[in-house]
Amino acid sequence: MEIVSLLIYMGLFLSSLLSYPFIMNKKKVARRKANLPPGSMGWPCIGETHQLYSKDPNVFFATKQKRYGEIFKTHILGCECVMLTSPEAARFVLVTHAHLFKPTYPRSKERLIGPSALFFHQGQYHSDLRKLVQSSLSPDTIGKLIPDIESTAISTLESLCNGHTVNTFREMKQYSFDAGILSIFGNLDDTNREKLSESYRTVDKGYNSFPTKIPGTAYYKALMARKKLNQILSEIISERKEKRLIEGDLLGQLLNFKNDKGLVLKEDQIADNIIGVLFAAQDTTASVLTWILKYLLDNPKLLKAVKAEQKAIYASNGGGRKPLTWAQTRNMRLTRRVILESLRMSSIISFTFREAVMDCEYKGYLIPKGWKVMPLFRNIHHNPELFSEPNLFDPSRFEVAPKPNSFLPFGNGVHACPGNELAKLEMLILIHHLVTKFRWEVVGSQVGIEYAPFPVPQQGLLARYWKESPSLKQAVCS
Ligand code: HEM
Repeated sequence: MEIVSLLIYMGLFLSSLLSYPFIMNKKKVARRKANLPPGSMGWPCIGETHQLYSKDPNVFFATKQKRYGEIFKTHILGCECVMLTSPEAARFVLVTHAHLFKPTYPRSKERLIGPSALFFHQGQYHSDLRKLVQSSLSPDTIGKLIPDIESTAISTLESLCNGHTVNTFREMKQYSFDAGILSIFGNLDDTNREKLSESYRTVDKGYNSFPTKIPGTAYYKALMARKKLNQILSEIISERKEKRLIEGDLLGQLLNFKNDKGLVLKEDQIADNIIGVLFAAQDTTASVLTWILKYLLDNPKLLKAVKAEQKAIYASNGGGRKPLTWAQTRNMRLTRRVILESLRMSSIISFTFREAVMDCEYKGYLIPKGWKVMPLFRNIHHNPELFSEPNLFDPSRFEVAPKPNSFLPFGNGVHACPGNELAKLEMLILIHHLVTKFRWEVVGSQVGIEYAPFPVPQQGLLARYWKESPSLKQAVCS
């Protein structure tokens, strides 16, 4: 079996290798006058995929930028790509000329999330769906979730204090999942939450595995779990319809939607968008939270100052007897700057992908139709001309607003993250409870980075957590 697939693979590889010069020639004829960006396309077929994956991808991008400047071409994972490293270029693709660049994802990923999820779309369907998602994530709506997010944060932190070493990223994933569920369904009953959580975990496990439909593989299990999620969601929708509840949460928005022609959303469109939002919300927020916990420990003076800011709020709330208010979360100035600097430093979404829908030109360079276009957020965030001493963790740099279009942790333009305020709120609330009532220390030397697929500290930041005893004023294991 393995030999057969190897032969097929080699056959495909060789035939495409042999046909490559002809394809190139045809393209050259069609685009005789083309002025492609500088850069190397690497080896026939495989391009520069090996160079990208054999070292830290950020080193690959940074080396290219140093050599070629703000725009360069390359060839990775079978795709011809143009990479862009300046705020102006990112704005061109994501904002001013967004109609020329469509979102593009591998089919295998689209199948797992659901093809009707808004981030795969452009045009009217996308803008209709986006309005609903934005409305369910507006400050008014998420402000009402504060007490529930607080209880989720407290129970997450308490569960960490078990005397054992824990993988921080894994625990933060559970927290961001639960907060995501709150924004989608409001208060969902425990049985349905547990069912969703179990099937979602299987989808999550298969998401980055090799996409084969062979039974037993992680990808196949993920596909089956995705089908199960549709059933669970269908039951939740029926219950909601029976109760005739009109809620401002995402499910309520999706159920009540009617377009100009009176059309409502089909159940699978609703399911795809719910899973899409959960997917967009979970690993992103959890990765950044994990980095924040590490950066705070690495900077003891800063941690002390953050504690002082949060303890003042805690005291004004009668030692945590009153819930946090929206106004208080808006006023956590230093903690907010720590979050912004963590978003910049970690740049967990290093880049995004689009595909040119027609030949277009940027600063005299041709971006051919069908090529992938990648604004490199991380390169922008680590450019010393935009952020001085970019490798230094310094939240005070956010005392002044960054230069326009230079700070893009949540993207820009029509597809910019509608969940950015919820993500920041979740982080502020978790930090508030962590620094006022708990302590934590990293186990072992934690210097490396792993990709899960977003960058997170090595092994998800192995750490031990304690509850601080208010009476003894010292750390005790709860
Ligand atoms: C720290 C946490 C987060 C980060 C860094 C982040 C980052 C991003 C970025 C960069 C994009 C744009 C991608 C592109 O242009 O291709 C995006 C889109 C999106 N995000 Fe987030 N996100 C976070 C949390 C959340 C949360 C909590 C939610 C929802 C509850 C969410 C929902 C979405 C959705 C639905 C989109 C697609 C929007 C569209 O296509 O119109 N995100 N996010």
